[in-house]
Amino acid sequence: MGKSIESMFSLAGRTALVTGSSRGIGREIARTLAMAGARVVFHGSCESEALREAAAECGGVFVVGDLTTEEGVKSLIESCQKAVSSIDILVLNASAQKYMTLGEFDETEFQKEFQTNVGATFQLVEAFSPAMCERKWGRIITLGSVNQQRPSPRLTLYSATKAAQMNLTANFAKTLAPYGITVNCLVPGVILTDRNIEPLKDDSYRQKVLALVPGGNFGEVEDCAGAALLLASDAGRYITGIELPVTGGMHL
Ligand SMILES: NC(=O)c1ccc[n+]([C@@H]2O[C@H](COP(=O)([O-])OP(=O)(O)OC[C@H]3O[C@@H](n4cnc5c(N)ncnc54)[C@H](OP(=O)(O)O)[C@@H]3O)[C@@H](O)[C@H]2O)c1
Repeated sequence: MGKSIESMFSLAGRTALVTGSSRGIGREIARTLAMAGARVVFHGSCESEALREAAAECGGVFVVGDLTTEEGVKSLIESCQKAVSSIDILVLNASAQKYMTLGEFDETEFQKEFQTNVGATFQLVEAFSPAMCERKWGRIITLGSVNQQRPSPRLTLYSATKAAQMNLTANFAKTLAPYGITVNCLVPGVILTDRNIEPLKDDSYRQKVLALVPGGNFGEVEDCAGAALLLASDAGRYITGIELPVTGGMHL
């Protein structure tokens, strides 16, 4: 007798940490994991009304920590360890992004994006994977970007950090597979969140970007949530080391 759909996707008894879940894609992923039965730890760069609301809506708890510094990540890890006994599902969603192209090198931004998008990934996996290894079950999901596959001239640095993060994802997938831990990268195309409001106000830019999407429309946060649930649940237990595009075909 096969498993029921409910049991394949149930996260009952699991605890998840979703970084950057006060808003946008992270918030919707966190809400979906909670609907599937997980206890969820929400996270934001600092305490905010949005963060409090997001956690309260799902009966979750929240922690804060600025991922632009190693100390900020350490503080997030400590708060999380105080709030819950263990993390089974780690969603590395928060990122830093600035439009910056060749000829605009900025040392401060370089450090910030590499620490937030790559360094914090390393630190958080290092902190939470040993207990997953002991329990022989874990799910790690990184949030990549279509720019790791199709580098954008306007997002030179960001594209490089996401490509580096994907390399870490594949590396961790191989290292942690013997312990029942899957590590995958969910790759959004253009999703309508706060970070895209300003750039997409420019109609000619909007039309130019839209022309790159074969599906002909931008994505919604909900489009990423189902993909995350697949990777987080037992339904996805044999999937590891992949880049899963949620792009309307933009990666092609
Ligand atoms: N939206 C897209 O079109 C798109 C496309 C490709 C990839 N992605 C990727 O998908 C993920 C989510 O994107 P999104 O558009 O949903 O983001 P968003 O709407 O800009 O939300 C960002 C979230 O990350 C948190 N955050 C930002 N900087 C942080 C920092 N330094 N330390 C701790 N937390 C920080 C924010 O917390 P506060 O509320 O406290 O600021 C917020 O919860 C990112 O990894 C992004 O690179 C998005």
